[in-house]
Amino acid sequence: MAHNGISDFRSDTVTWPTPAMYEAMASAPLGDDSFRDDPTVLQLEVLSAQMMGKESGLYCPSGTMANQVAGRVHCPPGKEVILDEDCHTLNFELAGLAYAGLQMRPIAGERGLMACDDVAERLRVGDSHTPGTGLLWLENTHNLSGGRVIPRENIVELSQIAHRASVPVHLDGARIFNAQVASGISAKRLAEPVDSVMFCLSKGLCCPVGSVLCGSEDFIEQARKVRQLLGGTMRQAGIIAACGLVALRENIDRLAEDHKRAKHLAEELTDITGIELNPDEVDTNMVYFRLGEGAHLNAPQLVEEAHKEKVWFLNLGEDTIRMVCHKDIDDDDVERALQVIGSVLGKGGDGG
Ligand SMILES: Cc1ncc(COP(=O)(O)O)c(C=O)c1O
Repeated sequence: MAHNGISDFRSDTVTWPTPAMYEAMASAPLGDDSFRDDPTVLQLEVLSAQMMGKESGLYCPSGTMANQVAGRVHCPPGKEVILDEDCHTLNFELAGLAYAGLQMRPIAGERGLMACDDVAERLRVGDSHTPGTGLLWLENTHNLSGGRVIPRENIVELSQIAHRASVPVHLDGARIFNAQVASGISAKRLAEPVDSVMFCLSKGLCCPVGSVLCGSEDFIEQARKVRQLLGGTMRQAGIIAACGLVALRENIDRLAEDHKRAKHLAEELTDITGIELNPDEVDTNMVYFRLGEGAHLNAPQLVEEAHKEKVWFLNLGEDTIRMVCHKDIDDDDVERALQVIGSVLGKGGDGG
């Protein structure tokens, strides 16, 4: 349901906590997590690690920080990280890995899917002139590819290739539970081939804050120090970790509703003149579309016009729009968005 009368499709990060989360926050046992005596944080880390099939977990303030920590623990400065050119880390995390002294080596994937041969070809041991590969970086679901679920086989094969060259693999699983719900394959199985995985609680799972980095005990011990270096150690963080526990127990299965709404939205949008989109490419909760021939407005203009009607979404550049479904978007919000976009683009109000 829209908050403040606004149908907010900008991101699943705009979700508000559920009533169960407010209750859990009020009664969470707390401590100072820098001394590791916040029982709620510890419980969240244990549950997260179990769900990812890893030995340990580390609660971090954001996905960006958890990714940053992972890069720094896996790779000493001067090494190279192989990643997809459209991944979130390369595009939206302010070159964080570069500040860690790492060189990012992007590969052109096919809608987020990196070809095994391309990765194998680029792995290198390093010599007096070339940096050695220090890490392979994967993302699932793949945000810029429209929330695409990267198939498990691809993750398995790429991880095998990297491991054969003694290169570790990190998975940015910000929305790994969307991948779980859409594919029917557990997050644990999806993360099984990789050495570390990060997932976000603050997106479709509706927590106000937080992400968890999971990996081996030794990896997480080192990660704890890097989190401190980056200023990410928190104190009575159980108050927010309590929401994470609720999210992992109660909010995963409902992601299917978001996926269903996103599919419906995509199917209906294709009827609006000027919109280019393939609904078959909508795997999860994100809908990306292009404004092509026949659209009288560009993407920033469409965003501005819809904003006036209290329907909010984002543009990427001049011709691409992103809309994301989440707990606080219901069927009425979808219908309203279709109606507004349809009428702004000149179709005449029924949204198609
Ligand atoms: C794929 C992916 N990775 C990482 C992040 C970063 O997470 P945060 O916003 O918590 O820093 C995002 C955020 O949208 C994301 O989509």
